[in-house]
Amino acid sequence: MRKPGKSSLRLFFTGVGIPSLFEYPPMPVKKLTDLDLSGKRVFIRADLNVPQDEAGNITEDTRIKASLPSIRYALDQGAAVMVTSHLGRPTEGRVGAEDSLSPIAVRLSQLLQKPVRLLQDWVAGGFTVALGEVVLLENCRCNVGEKKNSEALSKKMAALCDVYVNDAFGTAHRAEATTHGIARFAPLACAGILMGAEIDALSRALRNPKRPLAAIVGGAKVSSKLTILKSLAEKVDQLIVGGGIANTFLLASGKRIGESLAEPDLVKEAHAIMDMMRARGAEVPLPIDVVVADEVSSLARANKIAVENVAPHDRILDVGPKSAAHLAQIVAHAGTIVWNGPVGVFEYAQFAGGTKMLASAIAHSEAFSIAGGGDTLAAIAKFNIAADIGYISTGGGAFLEFLEGKPLPAIEALEARFPA
Ligand code: 3PG
Repeated sequence: MRKPGKSSLRLFFTGVGIPSLFEYPPMPVKKLTDLDLSGKRVFIRADLNVPQDEAGNITEDTRIKASLPSIRYALDQGAAVMVTSHLGRPTEGRVGAEDSLSPIAVRLSQLLQKPVRLLQDWVAGGFTVALGEVVLLENCRCNVGEKKNSEALSKKMAALCDVYVNDAFGTAHRAEATTHGIARFAPLACAGILMGAEIDALSRALRNPKRPLAAIVGGAKVSSKLTILKSLAEKVDQLIVGGGIANTFLLASGKRIGESLAEPDLVKEAHAIMDMMRARGAEVPLPIDVVVADEVSSLARANKIAVENVAPHDRILDVGPKSAAHLAQIVAHAGTIVWNGPVGVFEYAQFAGGTKMLASAIAHSEAFSIAGGGDTLAAIAKFNIAADIGYISTGGGAFLEFLEGKPLPAIEALEARFPA
């Protein structure tokens, strides 16, 4: 069921700057849509870092689709449009076959319904782009100096354009030459449509959230999400943990978890988070029943058992139906929901029940929901609820750092250029 009004949030763009968590001193940035681009050379830094299978086929193209509005806007205005992105984490100085944006050029061309040339060795210029044409500049992370935010590289790239557009929210937590340095030297630097929509939606959810505010943080490891867990524990009313993270919390609450994935050395941290929440009258709801098996595979035989009955060789791979129903209740009564990470190994049908029920509860909730992260996007796609999420972020690490209240260097660079 599609909820009225939700989808319009995706296009809403105020252009406010990056806030710190729940305290939002908005800093302005220049917006693409405020500029006259006719006859201009426009350089768009997008995040087209999409998953591919072993043969190089794109398996999920949300980020490419999300980058289209800025590209189309620049083309419609009569600009010569250059787009670049990183793909993966290549070695600088060479473009390996697996590093090339070639499959992305093909997909972009299909989506835009026009040819998209892929240009190699583009940093020094020497190529022409016609007005109304879009070219893709090969993997910018293969250029020497990109990751170290080299000033020399940034200046060369800035010289290619009249307008620099940062639309790569997914890479906004990196200070690299295409996300940061170039913004200092380009004649004009602005935020693209996607970047603006991301900042706006995430700020709106966190600035003055409608309570209760529920956060769902799933995934394998507490260690990779410790900062976000601590940061959320200070603010949210319900902190739902899932996956290996929940197992560590179960250990901290004295439960036996058999051979489940967990980080026993972080039990103290998990305790501290539960104490913090309790002191505020808030909760970390832990599973009362779980789905266990002795292996993670599509053939594994799953058992639904009370959490007290986990045996030494069991592996907890999902929350059980009672726990899932309880989490669904929490979500149903939330005013705002922040979702990052599944609560079970949802890739396999026997361990998908918890995440599916949660996803459905989020989809039916009247709360404003924001979701981000690769696994979360995959779950949203699998359970077909994209239309019922208030805002789906294209950010993984950037989404988490935004929620933590860390300043994002790419946005700071745009703020520093305002109003020039
Ligand atoms: C992502 O996939 O989270 C972004 O594209 C950033 O990629 P990175 O972690 O390699 O910088």
